[in-house]
Amino acid sequence: KFPSEIELDGQTFKTDEWTNVPPYILELTKRQLHQDVNHPIGILKELVETTFKDMGYTYYNDFKPLVTPFQNFDVLGFPQDHPGRSKSDTYYLNKDYLLRTHTSAHEHECFQECKTPGYFITADVYRRDEVDRTHYPAFHQLEGARLWSQEDEDWELQMLKDIAAIPQTDIIVEDPFRENKTFNSENPKQDYMTDRQCELASLHLKKTIEYLVNQVFENARISAKLAGSTEEYLNEPLKVRWVEAYFPWTSPSWEIEVWWKGEWLECCGCGVVQNQVLRNSNLGEHKFGWAFGIGLDRIAMLLFGIPDIRLFWSLDERFKNQFVQGRISTFAPYSKYPGIKRDVSFWLPPDSQLHVNDVMEIIRSKGGDLIENVTLIDEFLHPKTKKTSQCYRINYQSMDRNLTREEINKIQEGVEQELIENFNVKIR
Ligand code: PHE
Repeated sequence: KFPSEIELDGQTFKTDEWTNVPPYILELTKRQLHQDVNHPIGILKELVETTFKDMGYTYYNDFKPLVTPFQNFDVLGFPQDHPGRSKSDTYYLNKDYLLRTHTSAHEHECFQECKTPGYFITADVYRRDEVDRTHYPAFHQLEGARLWSQEDEDWELQMLKDIAAIPQTDIIVEDPFRENKTFNSENPKQDYMTDRQCELASLHLKKTIEYLVNQVFENARISAKLAGSTEEYLNEPLKVRWVEAYFPWTSPSWEIEVWWKGEWLECCGCGVVQNQVLRNSNLGEHKFGWAFGIGLDRIAMLLFGIPDIRLFWSLDERFKNQFVQGRISTFAPYSKYPGIKRDVSFWLPPDSQLHVNDVMEIIRSKGGDLIENVTLIDEFLHPKTKKTSQCYRINYQSMDRNLTREEINKIQEGVEQELIENFNVKIR
C-alpha cells in the first residue's frame, strides 16, 4: 500500500512494515502554523513568549517533526509496551523514524544545548486519533523547562529569587499538594533531591504555569468582552486546580485544569524532571528542575472563538484575513456549508486486528478535510459466528463549499474498498 520509498524534507526513507504515514500528513509538516505571526497558533505562541521575556528562557521554534523512537520514547523512559509506541497511535516513516507525538522529544537535545536556565519549544506534533471538532492528527505544543544546580552553593536563595520574580496573579488555586509537603508514594520525590529542592522546584513550576494560564485566559476574557459578550463567567475570578498525573520522565507529576464555561479543562501536563533524562543529556548528577507541555490548539480555539480545529489549516482568505500579529480577536464565522451524513457498516473477521484509529485514518485519508467527525455508533459480537459488526457514522462538511452527492459516494466507496482490501471486512 505504501511506495518503497518516501520523501520528507529532501531526505529519502525506505518504507517497511512500520510505515503508516499517509501523504496528506507529510504535507502538513510543511505548514509551520506556529511560525506565522498572523495565525492564531502563532499569535498565541508569541503571547506566551512575550509573557516570559527576560526571565531566562531560550526560545526554540524550528525543530523539524522527524525524530527517532529514541528521542520520542526511549530517552524519556517510556516502557517498551507503552501504547504510545504502537502503530495505531503514532505515525512512522519506518521503524527508525517517526513524526514526534510531543515536544518532549526535544528535551534531550535542548538540555544539552541550552545556555540559559530554561527554554521553551513550540512545534507541530502528530498523533493518530479520533476525528471530531477538537481532534486533528496534527496539532501544536509548547514545552517549557527550567533547571538549577545542587552544586551552586546559593541554590536555595536563587530559587527563592526566581520564584519571587514571577508576577503575582489573582487566580483562585486549588492545590491539595502544595501545603502537604509529604510526597505521594505513587508519584514520589526523587531520592537524589532534598525535600526542599523538590518543594521549591514544584512551586516555581506551578507559579510559572499559573502565570502563563492567567495571561492567556485574561486575554481570552478581554477579547470576549470586546466582542460584546456579557456572559457571567467573564467577571468571575479565574479558577484552576492541580491534579496528579504520571509521565515516565517526570516525578512527581501533575496536570493543571482551568475552570472555563462550567467545565474543567485539562490544559497542561508537567512535573519534576527525572534525573535519568538529565544524566542522559550529559548534565551530570547535580541538575534538577521541571518541565511542562501545553497543547496550543484547544486553547487557541477558546481564545479566538474558533468552532472547529480544521479551520486552523484552512487556506481560505475569509479565515486567514481575520487575524493579525499581537491581537486576540474573536473569529467571525462565515456561513457554514450544509453537511452530509453517511454510515459504513461491516462484519470483521474473527480475531481481526482492526483498531478504531485505523478506520479513522482510512476515512481521513479518503475524505481529507471534508470529514467533520466520525463516530463508532454501533458494535456487537455475533454469538455464533464470533464475528464483530461495527458501524461508523461519518459527517461530511466542507469549510468552504457545498458538497456533491457524487463526491461523497466516491469517498464512501474508497473507504469501503480500503477496508475490504486491508482488513478483509464484509460490508453490510
Ligand atoms: N509531553 C506531555 C504530553 O504530551 C506533556 C508533558 C511535558 C508532561 C513535559 C510532563 C513534562 O502530554
